[in-house]
Amino acid sequence: MRIGVIGAGHIGGTAAKLFVKAGYEVAVANSRGPSSLTSLVDSLGPKARAASPEEAVKFGEVVLLAIPWRRKEELPPGELFAGKIIIDAMNPYSSIGQSIDLGKSTSSEEVAKLMPKARLVKGFNTMGWKTLETGSRPADPPQDRLAIFIAGDDREAKAVVAKLIEGIGFGSIDTGSLREGGRRQEPGSPIYGRPLTGRQAREIIR
Ligand SMILES: NC(=O)c1ccc[n+]([C@@H]2O[C@H](COP(=O)([O-])OP(=O)(O)OC[C@H]3O[C@@H](n4cnc5c(N)ncnc54)[C@H](OP(=O)(O)O)[C@@H]3O)[C@@H](O)[C@H]2O)c1
Repeated sequence: MRIGVIGAGHIGGTAAKLFVKAGYEVAVANSRGPSSLTSLVDSLGPKARAASPEEAVKFGEVVLLAIPWRRKEELPPGELFAGKIIIDAMNPYSSIGQSIDLGKSTSSEEVAKLMPKARLVKGFNTMGWKTLETGSRPADPPQDRLAIFIAGDDREAKAVVAKLIEGIGFGSIDTGSLREGGRRQEPGSPIYGRPLTGRQAREIIR
């Protein structure tokens, strides 16, 4: 499977490393352009390439969004995402790090409005990047691994993302629909920012 990664910082860069290690081909993009990504892709090896955001979307069967949520309108045009499985790892913070109040809406629902034909899955939102970098435990059974939460309205897309999460050595836990499951993953929720095994997570969200 080919994976596009938009955002090459803490989360995008760390996820790209894990994807490559698990055998996936990855195209990574940032805002400054492919030439600024040379050292990252060199460190990732031959399965990784640098790309523009548009190229990363076209490349990926799955595309991870890992840029600041407040900059989501700068993403490539919505029609480019049509039919693709998109993982939204973005959390709604302002430029000074304050959580943005979206009223009745949730951050991934706002992302879905920008790409209405995408198969959007919220995922990778609650785990800090350091835990993502160091917490992979492929030898352990899934329920004993650290959990990466997913949410969304497309069951098949969620199954693909769940398999990807297991492929990189974590356990996936489905928190529900894009709206209600997404809300369960928001900043301030009981599962946000806490490294939890699948077993521990199920105790909290049941
Ligand atoms: N940090 C965490 O532990 C963590 C955990 C879970 C979720 N998240 C979420 O993941 C997202 C990324 O966080 P981060 O900590 O990885 O941020 P970061 O280290 O600051 O990296 C942000 C990346 O996004 C790129 N970017 C910004 N605007 C862009 C645009 N318009 N088009 C393409 N690329 C763009 C930046 O590229 P340039 O450097 O070229 O501008 C940079 O590579 C955020 O939404 C955050 O809420 C973070």
